Amino acid sequence: MPASGGVLRYLRAKGSVDARSVNVQVREACVQALARLPADRPLRVVELGGGAGGAFRYWMSLVAPFPRVEFTAVERDGGLLDAYREEVASLAGELGLSAAGDDLNRLRLEGGGRVIEVRLREMVAPQGLAQEDEGSFDLMVAQSFWDLVPPGTALALGTWLLAPGGLFYATLTFAGATRFAPPHELDRRLLGCYHASMGGDRGGDPYAGERLLGQVRMPGSGFSELATGRSDWRVVPTDEGYLADEKFFLLTVLGFVEKELLTSTEVREDELDWWIGTRRRQLADGQLSYAARQQDLAARRDG
Ligand SMILES: C[S@@+](CC[C@H](N)C(=O)[O-])C[C@H]1O[C@@H](n2cnc3c(N)ncnc32)[C@H](O)[C@@H]1O
Repeated sequence: MPASGGVLRYLRAKGSVDARSVNVQVREACVQALARLPADRPLRVVELGGGAGGAFRYWMSLVAPFPRVEFTAVERDGGLLDAYREEVASLAGELGLSAAGDDLNRLRLEGGGRVIEVRLREMVAPQGLAQEDEGSFDLMVAQSFWDLVPPGTALALGTWLLAPGGLFYATLTFAGATRFAPPHELDRRLLGCYHASMGGDRGGDPYAGERLLGQVRMPGSGFSELATGRSDWRVVPTDEGYLADEKFFLLTVLGFVEKELLTSTEVREDELDWWIGTRRRQLADGQLSYAARQQDLAARRDG
């Protein structure tokens, strides 16, 4: 994903959808598990696929009880990391913390007896991670990420990066179903092709949400499940139209579907034109609803 203005606006537009979708029971299980970790040393957190920092505020709310936090955000797109830095500085201002850092990739937030060290690392995971990262985190988080990488990556990385007893928390992982309303007779076939396109050469996993849960539950996985639950995205127009920037969010989602199907050998051009044209008109008229099946999961690394 290049850090074009469109991508940045999309990531920001999805923020209001994300905020109402995160599963509160899974969040609570994570908060309770965090409360059992020692607070007399820095809590070491790593985020994978941090984008423009859309979830940073949320992660900070989880770790609020810790006076010292070392937070590392990993993201392959340097342009998005610039936006991430702005997001960190902006939240620091809201929380009344000072934000300092000469190095573009580091920020130190301080105030009220708390110190939060933020490190932004531009790299492709897992390839860019270093030997020194092994076992060096207490909490590994990711939002809207594990469906973008090959099946198996999440737990392999969790095993490698987390210290024994460390926590794994994944939010909004796609779990294989997209629904639009009103129904269209091509939905089932076209959306099936769309999901298939996420795997294969693309290297992602359209069933990552469910698969992750299955992998954690496998005997000998090295992880114990703490909680799991649905976190579906739902966008529905109101009498005043779409909330916040969610019309743009939906427009971008339609663009993702179109882009994938343009190269599909199973979808004819006239079919795609009919389906996408109908969906765009419905969106313009404030008549389009959308839902994506997603899963949240909190687990603890054994040991
Ligand atoms: C759907 S976005 C989600 C961003 C952010 N977590 C949020 O919810 O706002 C996924 C992000 O993961 C990044 N990404 C995808 N594959 C990656 C990889 N292998 N290593 C690092 N970043 C990656 C993309 O550049 C993108 O910014």
